[in-house]
Amino acid sequence: MSRTMLIAGNWKMNGLAVDGVALAEAVAAGSSATLCDLLVCPPATLISAVGNAMSGSRVALGAQDCHPEESGAHTGDISAEMLVDLGCDFVIVGHSERRADHGESDEAVYAKAQAAHRAGLIAVICVGETEAERDGGQAEAVVACQIGGSLPENAKAANTVIAYEPVWAIGSGRTPTVEDVQAMHAHMRATVSASHGTYFADQVRLLYGGSVKPGNASELMGLTDVDGALVGGASLVAGDFLAIAGHCS
Ligand code: 13P
Repeated sequence: MSRTMLIAGNWKMNGLAVDGVALAEAVAAGSSATLCDLLVCPPATLISAVGNAMSGSRVALGAQDCHPEESGAHTGDISAEMLVDLGCDFVIVGHSERRADHGESDEAVYAKAQAAHRAGLIAVICVGETEAERDGGQAEAVVACQIGGSLPENAKAANTVIAYEPVWAIGSGRTPTVEDVQAMHAHMRATVSASHGTYFADQVRLLYGGSVKPGNASELMGLTDVDGALVGGASLVAGDFLAIAGHCS
């Protein structure tokens, strides 16, 4: 097993050029002191400027979504190939906010992940249960079902990251217990072992996301089956983002 930890920042719909570039510069400047892999996913409007601001640093560039098709009549959409053209290496697909706001099904997420792979991007596929599903004892079944429907058959550990983000933990300041996070990640690894084999399961990085902060990163990142974090709010403050990365070996 040789999984390098990954701390990914999802800026969501935040940042205008001046702030975004300053944030990217601060993350890039602090990145040499960290040991894990780092990724920043700005809004589409800032991908180019953030890429320039971080060029030469060890921070990778990613996007927050892509369209399944390579090109065509899809007003307002951006293809995976276009993201590669901007210098991206990663793209988040199936974030719960897109599943909720844009009605994205597992099938749609599968197609987006396939598009990412076609273009040579690493797909960060997001899954996670709602609070009602957890309260109903359905969390593990829901996540297994999302993985089953969203993870392309021919996905490789080298081009895929899976992020577990319980919907109720996003932006709420609440997190599952460390026992629950570890149990879910072990369950996810067993799920992908059954569908994609033991090599994939051993190598694929499983991120936890949902209210990760400098204060809880140490215990979350220390869990056996947690290989990093997908950070929302705290990724908008360079010092907090880098402090979270500082808890990773
Ligand atoms: P927060 O870290 O703000 O809870 O957001 C998590 C998230 O949705 C990252 O994709």
